[in-house]
Amino acid sequence: MNEPVLVQTDGHIGIATLNRPDVLNALSVELMDKLIDHIEAFDRDPDIRVIIIAGSEKVFAAGADIADMSGATFLDMYDRNNLGRWMRIKMVRTPIIAAVSGFALGGGCELAMACDMIVASESAKFGQPEIKLGVMPGLGGTQRLTRAIGKQRAMEMILTGRFMSAKEAYEAGLVTSVASKEQFLAEALRLAGRIAEMPPIAVKLAKESVNKADELSLQEGLAYERTLFYSLFATEDQTEGMQAFIEKRKPEYRGK
Ligand code: HXC
Repeated sequence: MNEPVLVQTDGHIGIATLNRPDVLNALSVELMDKLIDHIEAFDRDPDIRVIIIAGSEKVFAAGADIADMSGATFLDMYDRNNLGRWMRIKMVRTPIIAAVSGFALGGGCELAMACDMIVASESAKFGQPEIKLGVMPGLGGTQRLTRAIGKQRAMEMILTGRFMSAKEAYEAGLVTSVASKEQFLAEALRLAGRIAEMPPIAVKLAKESVNKADELSLQEGLAYERTLFYSLFATEDQTEGMQAFIEKRKPEYRGK
């Protein structure tokens, strides 16, 4: 019962659920280390085509564990480099959906933004309140929030610590979709299910190409995309997908 992250599978979907309810799923070092280990295990599993990271209906995660950090010095933080290890999430090739209800604050908001899509419940609240603790975002908030909602809005949120509602987050482009509190997890599973029906190699390469948009110039990104597009013609799934279209039947993708 004390496992900070619970894992289960549902068909081709791997689900990791944050499980520290007493402290609003505060992201302890142990939780973050286990979470990335589980995600990497899902990523290596050929049967898993989509990953969901979920909290509870009440809270996604209220940020890094403040009790863990409160007595730390610069050298403690620098030597431990716990956040550096978390950068492994960028290497995960399987699409990841964050299912967010309640608070997604600080490291919790950054964890959601490190995923590829966010399905939110109407009660979701996103924020980077680190400034109120004498620090600032450290897990990607200044970069990913800025890219997601633009400099003007990200600056205001990060400098004041204000929370954003699900509706505002949707309108600003931070989240993929919003569902009721009762339905947000089912909605995330529905989205995952739709992606899991697609040819797995094309899904992974498309994810990689979309994420390159944050890093490459347009010219480089277009060239990168074109190469990945051509390379998919080496897969059986491309033959199957196009053949099935011509024969007017449902394709059967095997990830080959
Ligand atoms: C440790 C936390 C916590 C956190 C809540 N708790 N957030 N413990 N780390 N981030 C604990 C509380 O101490 C309390 O424990 C219990 O969870 C319930 O919280 P309450 O505050 O009583 O609940 P509520 O009044 O509903 O307020 C909810 C809240 C508030 C608004 C989310 O808890 C809050 O402001 N939390 C901190 C949010 C935050 O600043 N996050 C950024 C962290 S820094 P007890 O024992 O009293 O019941 C960060 C850095 C990121 O994330 C970069 C590196 C990863």
